[in-house]
Amino acid sequence: MARLLLTGGAGFIGSHTALVLLEAGHEVVVLDDFRNSSPKALERVQELSGRSLDLVAGSLGDPATLERAFGGGLYSRGGAIDAVIHFAGLKAVGESVRHPLLYWDVNVNGSRLLLEAMDRAGCRTIVFSSSATLYGMPERTPIVETDAVRPINPYGHSKAAVERMLADLCETGADWRVASLRYFNPVGAHPSGRIGEDPEGIPNNLFPFVSQVAVGRRPELQVFGSDWPTHDGTGMRDYIHVMDLAEGHRAALDTLLREPPQLLTLNLGSGRGHSVLDVVRAFEIASGRSVPYRLVDRRPGDAAETVADPSLAAERLGWRTSRSLEDICRDGWAWQQANPSGYR
Ligand code: UD1
Repeated sequence: MARLLLTGGAGFIGSHTALVLLEAGHEVVVLDDFRNSSPKALERVQELSGRSLDLVAGSLGDPATLERAFGGGLYSRGGAIDAVIHFAGLKAVGESVRHPLLYWDVNVNGSRLLLEAMDRAGCRTIVFSSSATLYGMPERTPIVETDAVRPINPYGHSKAAVERMLADLCETGADWRVASLRYFNPVGAHPSGRIGEDPEGIPNNLFPFVSQVAVGRRPELQVFGSDWPTHDGTGMRDYIHVMDLAEGHRAALDTLLREPPQLLTLNLGSGRGHSVLDVVRAFEIASGRSVPYRLVDRRPGDAAETVADPSLAAERLGWRTSRSLEDICRDGWAWQQANPSGYR
């Protein structure tokens, strides 16, 4: 069993991954500043797993926080960290366009500070939360990992820059073990309905928006574009259940710890595309509620279709998704219904 540091471990993907890792018997330390997450998520992860985790509250930009996370100084509690899963970061595309330096600071500089602290502590194993957003406007689908990395916004550039930094470290010969996981569209929730996604303010993303319409928190969904070259004219995405994604992290970690030092760059998706209207219909069936919607103009910066070719992850990790769009809607609805205002 390993002692693992999860930066951003209280967030949506971090909390589900923390649960999977605790259930697998690992020791978990979470570093989080709760700027976009809630300590309640961690309470519930501990409740669900029947195990406790260690919390270091603070940001990557604070040297004392990093020192504590790696068990240094007076605060040292457990042993050394064997590996890091690095979720911490900002992820709103629109905000990144308005405040690019914030994204370069939190996402890129934050990652650099983390990697320096890892190097000092002699910990050279890291799983990084990358994103399919770095493919920009993909020329074809399904997307393979060797397709061009061409971000179209500062958020995407920040993910590509961290991937580059990690690849450069792997070239130093210092035995880094790195997995950059390019997530497609993470959605759904733990089937218990106890943990899930809790965006602040008006959601930018489709799933939380649809859930909030179904539960009556918002009047209607705006469907961005009905003239895309897809089966019903609405945008197609590869939605991945957050529990499948969490299990993908566990598989990546196991592979890194078992095999010789290497750099893995992998798409994590289901390989299946669903349109906006497919999602609306599936959510209506799962919830038994209607989801009123209105067709409006395309959203700038959107692509028609983004679907992963997940075969490299299957080959290298022995992992593939097992949950359907129906499972996603059922579990997402259980979370939304039990927590209409998220963790608040
Ligand atoms: C978005 C981000 C992406 C980020 C990902 C995180 C943009 C352009 N892309 O991806 O960089 O990594 O979230 O999960 O913001 N839609 C509607 N109405 C809505 C919201 C969305 O019709 O109110 C449509 C979109 O046009 C798209 C699909 O739903 O076709 C999915 O949208 P979304 O959930 O925002 O994800 P992405 O755009 O794929």
